[in-house]
Amino acid sequence: MTKQKSDMEPIPTLFDKSRPGRTGGRYPEPSGSAERYLPASELREDLPLTELSEVDVTRHFTLLSQRNYGIDMGLYPLGSCTMKHNPRLNERIAAMPAFSELHPSQPSATCQGALQIIFELQNALAEIGGMDAVTLQPAAGAQGEMTGLLLIRAYHRHRNDPKRTEMLVPDSAHGTNPATANLVGLKIVKIPSNSRGRVDVDAVRAAVGPNTAGMMMTNPNTLGLFEDQIEEIAGIVHSAGGLMYCDGANMNAIVGIARPGDMGFDVMHFNLHKTFSTPHGGGGPGCGAVAVKEVLKPFLPVPYAKETEDGTLEWAADLKHSIGRLHGTSGNFAVMLRAYTYIRSLGPDGLRAVAENAVLNANYIRVGVEKTYPVAYPETCMHEFVASASELKKARGIRTLDIAKRLMDYGYHPPTVYFPLIVPEALMIEPTETETRETLDAFIDALNKIAEEDPVLVHSAPHTMPVTRVDEVEAAKRLDVRWMPPADE
Ligand SMILES: Cc1ncc(COP(=O)(O)O)c(C=O)c1O
Repeated sequence: MTKQKSDMEPIPTLFDKSRPGRTGGRYPEPSGSAERYLPASELREDLPLTELSEVDVTRHFTLLSQRNYGIDMGLYPLGSCTMKHNPRLNERIAAMPAFSELHPSQPSATCQGALQIIFELQNALAEIGGMDAVTLQPAAGAQGEMTGLLLIRAYHRHRNDPKRTEMLVPDSAHGTNPATANLVGLKIVKIPSNSRGRVDVDAVRAAVGPNTAGMMMTNPNTLGLFEDQIEEIAGIVHSAGGLMYCDGANMNAIVGIARPGDMGFDVMHFNLHKTFSTPHGGGGPGCGAVAVKEVLKPFLPVPYAKETEDGTLEWAADLKHSIGRLHGTSGNFAVMLRAYTYIRSLGPDGLRAVAENAVLNANYIRVGVEKTYPVAYPETCMHEFVASASELKKARGIRTLDIAKRLMDYGYHPPTVYFPLIVPEALMIEPTETETRETLDAFIDALNKIAEEDPVLVHSAPHTMPVTRVDEVEAAKRLDVRWMPPADE
Protein backbone atom coordinates (compact mmCIF):
# COMPACT_ATOMS: atom_id res chain seq x y z
CA MET A 1 0.00 0.00 0.00
CA THR A 2 2.93 2.32 0.40
CA LYS A 3 3.94 2.37 -3.20
CA GLN A 4 6.03 5.24 -4.57
CA LYS A 5 4.91 7.21 -7.57
CA SER A 6 7.94 5.89 -9.44
CA ASP A 7 6.62 2.35 -8.87
CA MET A 8 3.74 3.20 -11.12
CA GLU A 9 5.63 4.69 -14.01
CA PRO A 10 6.11 2.49 -17.05
CA ILE A 11 9.55 0.91 -17.33
CA PRO A 12 11.20 1.83 -20.63
CA THR A 13 12.00 -1.15 -22.83
CA LEU A 14 15.57 -2.30 -23.42
CA PHE A 15 15.27 -0.83 -26.90
CA ASP A 16 14.50 2.57 -25.36
CA LYS A 17 17.55 2.28 -23.11
CA SER A 18 19.84 1.13 -25.91
CA ARG A 19 22.67 3.49 -26.99
CA PRO A 20 24.90 2.89 -30.03
CA GLY A 21 28.24 1.38 -29.09
CA ARG A 22 27.32 0.55 -25.47
CA THR A 23 28.23 -3.00 -24.59
CA GLY A 24 28.25 -5.48 -21.75
CA GLY A 25 31.57 -7.09 -22.51
CA ARG A 26 34.70 -6.83 -24.62
CA TYR A 27 35.22 -9.22 -27.43
CA PRO A 28 38.14 -9.45 -29.82
CA GLU A 29 37.43 -8.03 -33.23
CA PRO A 30 36.61 -10.88 -35.61
CA SER A 31 39.48 -11.47 -37.93
CA GLY A 32 38.52 -11.07 -41.55
CA SER A 33 35.10 -10.33 -42.96
CA ALA A 34 31.85 -11.83 -41.68
CA GLU A 35 31.60 -13.98 -44.83
CA ARG A 36 34.40 -16.04 -43.37
CA TYR A 37 31.92 -17.31 -40.81
CA LEU A 38 28.55 -17.17 -42.56
CA PRO A 39 27.42 -17.30 -46.19
CA ALA A 40 26.65 -13.82 -47.56
CA SER A 41 22.98 -14.81 -48.01
CA GLU A 42 22.62 -15.29 -44.25
CA LEU A 43 24.14 -11.96 -43.23
CA ARG A 44 21.76 -9.22 -42.03
CA GLU A 45 22.41 -5.51 -41.82
CA ASP A 46 19.02 -4.56 -40.40
CA LEU A 47 18.62 -6.64 -37.24
CA PRO A 48 17.65 -4.17 -34.49
CA LEU A 49 19.58 -5.45 -31.47
CA THR A 50 19.91 -3.56 -28.22
CA GLU A 51 23.25 -2.12 -27.17
CA LEU A 52 23.47 -2.03 -23.39
CA SER A 53 25.86 -2.37 -20.49
CA GLU A 54 25.62 -5.30 -18.09
CA VAL A 55 24.38 -3.02 -15.32
CA ASP A 56 21.58 -1.68 -17.58
CA VAL A 57 20.37 -5.19 -18.21
CA THR A 58 20.67 -6.34 -14.60
CA ARG A 59 18.71 -3.33 -13.32
CA HIS A 60 16.11 -3.63 -16.03
CA PHE A 61 15.21 -7.21 -15.17
CA THR A 62 15.46 -6.64 -11.42
CA LEU A 63 13.00 -3.77 -11.78
CA LEU A 64 10.67 -5.86 -13.89
CA SER A 65 10.77 -8.66 -11.33
CA GLN A 66 9.73 -6.18 -8.64
CA ARG A 67 6.66 -5.28 -10.66
CA ASN A 68 5.62 -8.89 -10.71
CA TYR A 69 3.51 -10.59 -8.08
CA GLY A 70 4.28 -14.15 -7.06
CA ILE A 71 3.45 -16.62 -4.35
CA ASP A 72 6.73 -15.69 -2.64
CA MET A 73 5.39 -12.15 -2.12
CA GLY A 74 2.04 -12.82 -0.55
CA LEU A 75 -1.34 -14.52 -0.64
CA TYR A 76 -2.33 -15.69 -4.11
CA PRO A 77 -5.93 -16.87 -3.66
CA LEU A 78 -6.47 -17.68 -7.34
CA GLY A 79 -9.27 -20.24 -7.17
CA SER A 80 -8.74 -23.43 -9.17
CA CYS A 81 -5.01 -22.73 -9.52
CA THR A 82 -3.73 -23.93 -6.10
CA MET A 83 -1.02 -21.29 -5.83
CA LYS A 84 0.72 -22.69 -2.81
CA HIS A 85 4.19 -22.39 -1.40
CA ASN A 86 6.79 -24.62 -2.96
CA PRO A 87 9.07 -25.78 -0.12
CA ARG A 88 12.66 -24.73 -0.84
CA LEU A 89 13.85 -28.27 -0.24
CA ASN A 90 12.13 -29.25 -3.50
CA GLU A 91 13.99 -26.51 -5.37
CA ARG A 92 17.32 -27.60 -3.93
CA ILE A 93 16.78 -31.17 -5.03
CA ALA A 94 15.57 -30.17 -8.50
CA ALA A 95 18.62 -27.95 -8.97
CA MET A 96 21.18 -30.62 -8.00
CA PRO A 97 23.66 -31.00 -10.86
CA ALA A 98 23.27 -34.78 -10.57
CA PHE A 99 19.77 -34.23 -11.96
CA SER A 100 19.93 -30.95 -13.84
CA GLU A 101 22.90 -32.06 -15.94
CA LEU A 102 21.32 -35.29 -17.15
CA HIS A 103 20.31 -35.58 -20.77
CA PRO A 104 16.93 -37.18 -21.49
CA SER A 105 18.41 -39.41 -24.18
CA GLN A 106 21.35 -40.79 -22.25
CA PRO A 107 21.50 -44.57 -21.83
CA SER A 108 19.42 -45.96 -18.95
CA ALA A 109 22.48 -47.59 -17.40
CA THR A 110 23.96 -44.13 -16.77
CA CYS A 111 20.91 -42.61 -15.05
CA GLN A 112 19.54 -45.33 -12.79
CA GLY A 113 19.03 -42.86 -9.94
CA ALA A 114 16.80 -40.60 -12.04
CA LEU A 115 14.88 -43.61 -13.35
CA GLN A 116 14.42 -44.82 -9.78
CA ILE A 117 12.80 -41.52 -8.86
CA ILE A 118 10.56 -41.57 -11.91
CA PHE A 119 9.61 -45.18 -11.22
CA GLU A 120 8.84 -44.50 -7.57
CA LEU A 121 6.86 -41.39 -8.46
CA GLN A 122 4.75 -43.43 -10.92
CA ASN A 123 4.03 -45.88 -8.09
CA ALA A 124 3.36 -43.20 -5.48
CA LEU A 125 0.85 -41.41 -7.71
CA ALA A 126 -0.87 -44.69 -8.55
CA GLU A 127 -1.23 -45.30 -4.81
CA ILE A 128 -2.44 -41.76 -4.08
CA GLY A 129 -5.01 -41.96 -6.91
CA GLY A 130 -6.12 -45.53 -6.18
CA MET A 131 -5.04 -46.49 -9.71
CA ASP A 132 -2.82 -49.17 -11.28
CA ALA A 133 -0.42 -47.41 -13.65
CA VAL A 134 0.84 -43.91 -14.40
CA THR A 135 2.38 -41.91 -17.23
CA LEU A 136 4.35 -38.80 -16.40
CA GLN A 137 4.63 -37.53 -19.95
CA PRO A 138 1.85 -34.91 -20.22
CA ALA A 139 3.23 -31.42 -19.63
CA ALA A 140 0.02 -29.80 -18.33
CA GLY A 141 -3.33 -30.64 -16.82
CA ALA A 142 -5.03 -30.00 -20.14
CA GLN A 143 -2.59 -32.32 -21.90
CA GLY A 144 -3.30 -34.92 -19.21
CA GLU A 145 -6.99 -34.60 -20.05
CA MET A 146 -6.18 -35.08 -23.71
CA THR A 147 -4.13 -38.16 -22.88
CA GLY A 148 -6.96 -39.57 -20.78
CA LEU A 149 -9.55 -39.04 -23.49
CA LEU A 150 -7.26 -40.55 -26.13
CA LEU A 151 -6.94 -43.60 -23.86
CA ILE A 152 -10.72 -43.85 -23.54
CA ARG A 153 -11.08 -43.52 -27.31
CA ALA A 154 -8.42 -46.17 -27.94
CA TYR A 155 -10.15 -48.50 -25.47
CA HIS A 156 -13.49 -48.27 -27.27
CA ARG A 157 -11.90 -48.63 -30.70
CA HIS A 158 -9.95 -51.64 -29.54
CA ARG A 159 -13.18 -53.27 -28.41
CA ASN A 160 -14.65 -52.61 -31.84
CA ASP A 161 -17.05 -50.04 -30.48
CA PRO A 162 -15.96 -46.88 -32.33
CA LYS A 163 -19.42 -45.32 -32.32
CA ARG A 164 -18.89 -44.26 -28.70
CA THR A 165 -18.10 -40.65 -29.37
CA GLU A 166 -20.11 -38.78 -26.73
CA MET A 167 -18.44 -37.33 -23.63
CA LEU A 168 -20.60 -36.16 -20.76
CA VAL A 169 -19.28 -32.92 -19.25
CA PRO A 170 -20.90 -31.05 -16.31
CA ASP A 171 -21.78 -27.38 -16.79
CA SER A 172 -19.51 -26.52 -13.84
CA ALA A 173 -16.45 -28.07 -15.54
CA HIS A 174 -13.19 -26.23 -16.03
CA GLY A 175 -13.01 -24.90 -19.60
CA THR A 176 -10.24 -27.31 -20.50
CA ASN A 177 -12.64 -30.28 -20.12
CA PRO A 178 -15.03 -29.48 -22.99
CA ALA A 179 -12.16 -27.98 -25.01
CA THR A 180 -10.19 -31.23 -24.73
CA ALA A 181 -13.18 -33.41 -25.57
CA ASN A 182 -13.70 -31.28 -28.65
CA LEU A 183 -10.02 -31.47 -29.58
CA VAL A 184 -10.00 -35.27 -29.62
CA GLY A 185 -13.14 -35.32 -31.77
CA LEU A 186 -15.69 -36.24 -29.12
CA LYS A 187 -19.17 -34.75 -28.98
CA ILE A 188 -19.86 -32.90 -25.74
CA VAL A 189 -23.07 -33.68 -23.87
CA LYS A 190 -23.57 -30.96 -21.24
CA ILE A 191 -24.86 -32.13 -17.86
CA PRO A 192 -26.52 -29.51 -15.64
CA SER A 193 -25.78 -28.99 -11.96
CA ASN A 194 -28.57 -29.48 -9.43
CA SER A 195 -29.73 -27.04 -6.75
CA ARG A 196 -26.91 -28.27 -4.46
CA GLY A 197 -24.20 -27.41 -6.99
CA ARG A 198 -23.56 -31.08 -7.76
CA VAL A 199 -23.93 -32.99 -11.02
CA ASP A 200 -27.61 -33.79 -11.60
CA VAL A 201 -27.78 -37.60 -11.40
CA ASP A 202 -31.09 -37.82 -13.28
CA ALA A 203 -29.59 -35.82 -16.13
CA VAL A 204 -26.69 -38.30 -16.30
CA ARG A 205 -29.13 -41.20 -16.37
CA ALA A 206 -31.05 -39.56 -19.22
CA ALA A 207 -27.92 -38.72 -21.19
CA VAL A 208 -26.09 -42.08 -21.28
CA GLY A 209 -26.57 -44.58 -24.07
CA PRO A 210 -24.81 -46.73 -26.66
CA ASN A 211 -22.82 -43.72 -27.92
CA THR A 212 -21.43 -42.77 -24.51
CA ALA A 213 -17.63 -42.87 -24.49
CA GLY A 214 -17.45 -41.65 -20.92
CA MET A 215 -17.88 -38.82 -18.48
CA MET A 216 -15.43 -36.20 -17.24
CA MET A 217 -15.89 -35.10 -13.66
CA THR A 218 -13.91 -32.93 -11.29
CA ASN A 219 -14.04 -33.95 -7.65
CA PRO A 220 -14.26 -31.76 -5.66
CA ASN A 221 -15.91 -29.78 -8.41
CA THR A 222 -15.13 -26.22 -9.44
CA LEU A 223 -17.65 -24.88 -6.94
CA GLY A 224 -15.43 -26.36 -4.22
CA LEU A 225 -18.03 -29.01 -3.40
CA PHE A 226 -17.48 -32.73 -3.06
CA GLU A 227 -19.52 -34.72 -5.58
CA ASP A 228 -21.18 -36.92 -2.97
CA GLN A 229 -23.13 -39.01 -5.50
CA ILE A 230 -20.03 -39.96 -7.43
CA GLU A 231 -20.40 -43.72 -6.91
CA GLU A 232 -23.95 -43.69 -8.22
CA ILE A 233 -22.91 -41.62 -11.25
CA ALA A 234 -19.96 -43.93 -11.98
CA GLY A 235 -22.34 -46.89 -11.78
CA ILE A 236 -24.71 -45.32 -14.33
CA VAL A 237 -21.91 -44.49 -16.78
CA HIS A 238 -20.27 -47.92 -16.41
CA SER A 239 -23.50 -49.83 -16.94
CA ALA A 240 -23.98 -47.87 -20.16
CA GLY A 241 -20.50 -49.02 -21.29
CA GLY A 242 -18.71 -45.68 -20.72
CA LEU A 243 -15.59 -44.91 -18.69
CA MET A 244 -15.14 -42.34 -15.95
CA TYR A 245 -12.51 -39.60 -16.25
CA CYS A 246 -11.47 -37.65 -13.16
CA ASP A 247 -10.08 -34.17 -13.56
CA GLY A 248 -7.80 -34.42 -10.53
CA ALA A 249 -6.68 -30.81 -10.62
CA ASN A 250 -8.46 -30.28 -7.31
CA MET A 251 -6.64 -33.09 -5.49
CA ASN A 252 -5.33 -30.57 -2.96
CA ALA A 253 -8.65 -30.96 -1.16
CA ILE A 254 -8.53 -34.74 -0.82
CA VAL A 255 -4.93 -35.88 -1.20
CA GLY A 256 -4.17 -38.55 1.42
CA ILE A 257 -7.85 -38.80 2.36
CA ALA A 258 -9.88 -40.00 -0.63
CA ARG A 259 -8.84 -41.68 -3.89
CA PRO A 260 -10.54 -41.20 -7.28
CA GLY A 261 -9.87 -44.87 -8.08
CA ASP A 262 -12.03 -45.86 -5.10
CA MET A 263 -14.82 -43.54 -6.27
CA GLY A 264 -15.25 -45.41 -9.55
CA PHE A 265 -12.97 -43.45 -11.85
CA ASP A 266 -11.03 -45.37 -14.51
CA VAL A 267 -8.58 -42.64 -15.46
CA MET A 268 -7.48 -39.35 -13.97
CA HIS A 269 -4.90 -36.65 -14.27
CA PHE A 270 -3.00 -34.95 -11.48
CA ASN A 271 -1.68 -31.45 -11.79
CA LEU A 272 1.72 -32.03 -10.21
CA HIS A 273 2.23 -28.30 -10.76
CA LYS A 274 -0.55 -27.56 -8.29
CA THR A 275 -1.08 -30.28 -5.70
CA PHE A 276 2.54 -31.35 -5.58
CA SER A 277 3.94 -27.89 -5.14
CA THR A 278 5.44 -26.63 -8.38
CA PRO A 279 3.60 -23.33 -8.63
CA HIS A 280 0.95 -23.31 -11.34
CA GLY A 281 0.88 -20.53 -13.84
CA GLY A 282 2.76 -18.78 -16.56
CA GLY A 283 2.06 -21.55 -19.02
CA GLY A 284 4.48 -24.10 -17.63
CA PRO A 285 6.51 -26.12 -17.26
CA GLY A 286 4.12 -28.56 -15.63
CA CYS A 287 3.26 -32.21 -15.37
CA GLY A 288 -0.25 -33.51 -15.89
CA ALA A 289 0.51 -37.09 -14.83
CA VAL A 290 -2.21 -39.54 -15.89
CA ALA A 291 -3.15 -42.55 -13.79
CA VAL A 292 -5.30 -45.43 -15.04
CA LYS A 293 -6.94 -48.62 -13.94
CA GLU A 294 -5.67 -51.92 -15.35
CA VAL A 295 -8.13 -51.88 -18.31
CA LEU A 296 -6.47 -48.80 -19.78
CA LYS A 297 -2.87 -49.73 -19.08
CA PRO A 298 -2.16 -51.32 -22.51
CA PHE A 299 -2.98 -47.98 -24.16
CA LEU A 300 -0.71 -45.73 -22.07
CA PRO A 301 1.94 -43.59 -23.77
CA VAL A 302 5.45 -44.99 -24.06
CA PRO A 303 8.16 -44.94 -22.90
CA TYR A 304 7.63 -45.37 -19.18
CA ALA A 305 10.01 -46.32 -16.36
CA LYS A 306 10.00 -50.07 -15.76
CA GLU A 307 11.81 -52.41 -13.41
CA THR A 308 13.46 -55.30 -15.21
CA GLU A 309 13.92 -58.80 -13.85
CA ASP A 310 17.44 -58.11 -12.60
CA GLY A 311 16.18 -55.11 -10.61
CA THR A 312 17.60 -52.39 -12.89
CA LEU A 313 15.35 -49.78 -14.43
CA GLU A 314 14.77 -48.96 -18.08
CA TRP A 315 12.61 -46.92 -20.42
CA ALA A 316 10.13 -49.48 -21.69
CA ALA A 317 8.00 -49.27 -24.81
CA ASP A 318 6.35 -52.66 -24.51
CA LEU A 319 2.69 -51.58 -24.32
CA LYS A 320 0.94 -53.31 -27.19
CA HIS A 321 -1.77 -50.78 -27.91
CA SER A 322 -0.01 -47.61 -26.79
CA ILE A 323 -1.42 -44.33 -28.07
CA GLY A 324 2.21 -43.27 -28.65
CA ARG A 325 4.25 -40.40 -27.29
CA LEU A 326 2.83 -37.28 -25.71
CA HIS A 327 6.11 -35.49 -25.12
CA GLY A 328 9.37 -35.10 -27.02
CA THR A 329 11.25 -36.63 -24.10
CA SER A 330 9.93 -38.24 -20.94
CA GLY A 331 8.18 -35.16 -19.53
CA ASN A 332 9.27 -32.29 -17.29
CA PHE A 333 11.74 -33.93 -14.97
CA ALA A 334 12.25 -30.94 -12.65
CA VAL A 335 8.52 -30.92 -11.86
CA MET A 336 8.70 -34.65 -11.14
CA LEU A 337 11.65 -34.11 -8.79
CA ARG A 338 9.75 -31.48 -6.83
CA ALA A 339 6.68 -33.71 -6.62
CA TYR A 340 8.75 -36.69 -5.52
CA THR A 341 10.57 -34.69 -2.86
CA TYR A 342 7.29 -33.22 -1.67
CA ILE A 343 5.60 -36.61 -1.38
CA ARG A 344 8.56 -38.28 0.30
CA SER A 345 9.22 -35.44 2.73
CA LEU A 346 5.58 -35.19 3.83
CA GLY A 347 4.70 -38.87 3.87
CA PRO A 348 1.09 -40.12 4.07
CA ASP A 349 0.27 -38.15 7.24
CA GLY A 350 1.79 -34.97 5.90
CA LEU A 351 -0.18 -35.22 2.66
CA ARG A 352 -3.36 -35.76 4.60
CA ALA A 353 -2.57 -32.66 6.66
CA VAL A 354 -2.16 -30.68 3.43
CA ALA A 355 -5.73 -31.46 2.42
CA GLU A 356 -7.09 -30.88 5.92
CA ASN A 357 -5.46 -27.47 6.22
CA ALA A 358 -6.39 -26.45 2.68
CA VAL A 359 -10.03 -27.18 3.50
CA LEU A 360 -9.81 -25.49 6.91
CA ASN A 361 -8.28 -22.32 5.45
CA ALA A 362 -10.90 -22.07 2.70
CA ASN A 363 -13.71 -22.46 5.20
CA TYR A 364 -12.13 -19.88 7.51
CA ILE A 365 -12.24 -17.25 4.77
CA ARG A 366 -15.68 -18.37 3.62
CA VAL A 367 -17.15 -17.75 7.07
CA GLY A 368 -15.26 -14.48 7.40
CA VAL A 369 -16.69 -12.95 4.24
CA GLU A 370 -20.03 -14.64 3.69
CA LYS A 371 -22.12 -11.83 5.20
CA THR A 372 -20.77 -9.45 2.58
CA TYR A 373 -20.19 -11.92 -0.22
CA PRO A 374 -22.84 -14.65 -0.06
CA VAL A 375 -21.46 -18.01 -1.04
CA ALA A 376 -23.18 -19.50 -4.08
CA TYR A 377 -23.85 -22.84 -2.37
CA PRO A 378 -23.69 -22.10 1.36
CA GLU A 379 -22.31 -25.17 3.05
CA THR A 380 -18.91 -26.42 4.21
CA CYS A 381 -16.62 -26.15 1.23
CA MET A 382 -13.57 -28.12 0.25
CA HIS A 383 -10.30 -26.36 -0.68
CA GLU A 384 -12.02 -23.40 -2.32
CA PHE A 385 -15.38 -21.67 -2.45
CA VAL A 386 -17.27 -19.49 -4.87
CA ALA A 387 -18.76 -16.29 -3.47
CA SER A 388 -20.84 -13.80 -5.39
CA ALA A 389 -20.76 -10.00 -5.51
CA SER A 390 -24.30 -9.88 -6.97
CA GLU A 391 -25.79 -8.25 -3.87
CA LEU A 392 -23.03 -5.69 -3.70
CA LYS A 393 -23.54 -4.90 -7.35
CA LYS A 394 -27.25 -4.32 -6.76
CA ALA A 395 -26.82 -2.31 -3.57
CA ARG A 396 -23.71 -0.23 -4.35
CA GLY A 397 -22.82 -0.80 -7.99
CA ILE A 398 -19.59 -2.59 -7.06
CA ARG A 399 -18.89 -5.55 -9.34
CA THR A 400 -16.59 -8.54 -9.01
CA LEU A 401 -14.08 -7.00 -11.40
CA ASP A 402 -13.92 -3.85 -9.23
CA ILE A 403 -13.21 -5.94 -6.13
CA ALA A 404 -10.49 -7.90 -7.91
CA LYS A 405 -8.81 -4.69 -9.08
CA ARG A 406 -9.08 -3.03 -5.69
CA LEU A 407 -7.53 -6.05 -3.93
CA MET A 408 -4.30 -5.26 -5.79
CA ASP A 409 -4.12 -1.95 -3.92
CA TYR A 410 -4.25 -3.94 -0.70
CA GLY A 411 -1.29 -6.00 -1.88
CA TYR A 412 -3.06 -9.22 -2.92
CA HIS A 413 -3.28 -11.11 -6.13
CA PRO A 414 -7.00 -11.17 -7.01
CA PRO A 415 -8.98 -14.39 -6.79
CA THR A 416 -10.31 -16.07 -9.92
CA VAL A 417 -13.27 -14.07 -11.19
CA TYR A 418 -16.37 -14.86 -13.25
CA PHE A 419 -15.71 -18.60 -13.04
CA PRO A 420 -17.44 -21.00 -12.82
CA LEU A 421 -19.83 -19.52 -15.33
CA ILE A 422 -22.91 -20.78 -13.52
CA VAL A 423 -22.42 -18.30 -10.64
CA PRO A 424 -23.14 -14.62 -11.42
CA GLU A 425 -20.44 -12.16 -10.30
CA ALA A 426 -18.33 -15.12 -9.12
CA LEU A 427 -15.27 -14.73 -6.89
CA MET A 428 -13.50 -18.05 -6.57
CA ILE A 429 -11.21 -18.10 -3.56
CA GLU A 430 -8.57 -20.74 -2.80
CA PRO A 431 -6.11 -19.77 -0.05
CA THR A 432 -4.25 -23.15 0.09
CA GLU A 433 -2.86 -24.81 3.20
CA THR A 434 0.35 -22.83 3.46
CA GLU A 435 -1.18 -19.55 4.69
CA THR A 436 -1.21 -18.50 8.33
CA ARG A 437 -4.23 -17.37 10.28
CA GLU A 438 -2.90 -13.77 10.34
CA THR A 439 -2.69 -13.73 6.55
CA LEU A 440 -6.21 -15.10 6.23
CA ASP A 441 -7.53 -12.52 8.73
CA ALA A 442 -5.90 -9.66 6.85
CA PHE A 443 -7.37 -10.86 3.56
CA ILE A 444 -10.85 -11.18 5.09
CA ASP A 445 -10.53 -7.63 6.43
CA ALA A 446 -9.49 -6.31 3.03
CA LEU A 447 -12.44 -7.96 1.28
CA ASN A 448 -14.92 -6.69 3.85
CA LYS A 449 -13.45 -3.17 3.82
CA ILE A 450 -13.63 -2.92 0.03
CA ALA A 451 -17.35 -3.61 0.18
CA GLU A 452 -17.79 -0.48 2.32
CA GLU A 453 -15.51 1.83 0.38
CA ASP A 454 -16.62 4.72 -1.79
CA PRO A 455 -17.74 3.05 -5.05
CA VAL A 456 -15.94 5.75 -7.05
CA LEU A 457 -12.63 4.70 -5.48
CA VAL A 458 -13.32 1.04 -6.12
CA HIS A 459 -14.48 1.56 -9.71
CA SER A 460 -11.24 3.29 -10.63
CA ALA A 461 -8.91 0.80 -8.85
CA PRO A 462 -6.15 -0.19 -8.94
CA HIS A 463 -4.52 3.07 -7.87
CA THR A 464 -1.05 1.72 -7.15
CA MET A 465 -0.26 -0.24 -10.29
CA PRO A 466 1.67 0.86 -13.37
CA VAL A 467 -1.21 -0.38 -15.53
CA THR A 468 -4.68 0.37 -14.26
CA ARG A 469 -7.59 -0.89 -16.33
CA VAL A 470 -7.12 -1.86 -19.89
CA ASP A 471 -9.83 -1.44 -22.49
CA GLU A 472 -10.69 -5.12 -22.71
CA VAL A 473 -12.71 -4.83 -25.91
CA GLU A 474 -9.89 -2.97 -27.62
CA ALA A 475 -7.34 -5.44 -26.22
CA ALA A 476 -9.29 -8.40 -27.57
CA LYS A 477 -10.03 -6.85 -30.95
CA ARG A 478 -6.72 -5.13 -31.61
CA LEU A 479 -4.18 -7.12 -29.68
CA ASP A 480 -0.83 -5.36 -29.86
CA VAL A 481 1.95 -7.00 -27.90
CA ARG A 482 4.90 -6.27 -30.19
CA TRP A 483 7.36 -3.45 -29.63
CA MET A 484 8.01 -1.38 -32.71
CA PRO A 485 10.64 1.37 -33.00
CA PRO A 486 9.12 4.87 -33.15
CA ALA A 487 8.28 5.76 -36.76
CA ASP A 488 10.94 8.55 -37.08
CA GLU A 489 13.90 6.30 -36.10
C1 LIG B 1 -10.14 -27.99 -12.50
C2 LIG B 1 -9.03 -27.80 -13.50
N1 LIG B 1 -8.91 -28.65 -14.53
C3 LIG B 1 -7.91 -28.54 -15.43
C4 LIG B 1 -6.98 -27.54 -15.34
C5 LIG B 1 -5.94 -27.41 -16.42
O1 LIG B 1 -4.63 -27.51 -15.97
P1 LIG B 1 -3.42 -26.83 -16.78
O2 LIG B 1 -3.57 -25.35 -16.56
O3 LIG B 1 -2.18 -27.38 -16.20
O4 LIG B 1 -3.59 -27.20 -18.22
C6 LIG B 1 -7.07 -26.61 -14.29
C7 LIG B 1 -6.09 -25.52 -14.17
O5 LIG B 1 -5.97 -24.85 -13.21
C8 LIG B 1 -8.11 -26.75 -13.35
O6 LIG B 1 -8.22 -25.89 -12.33
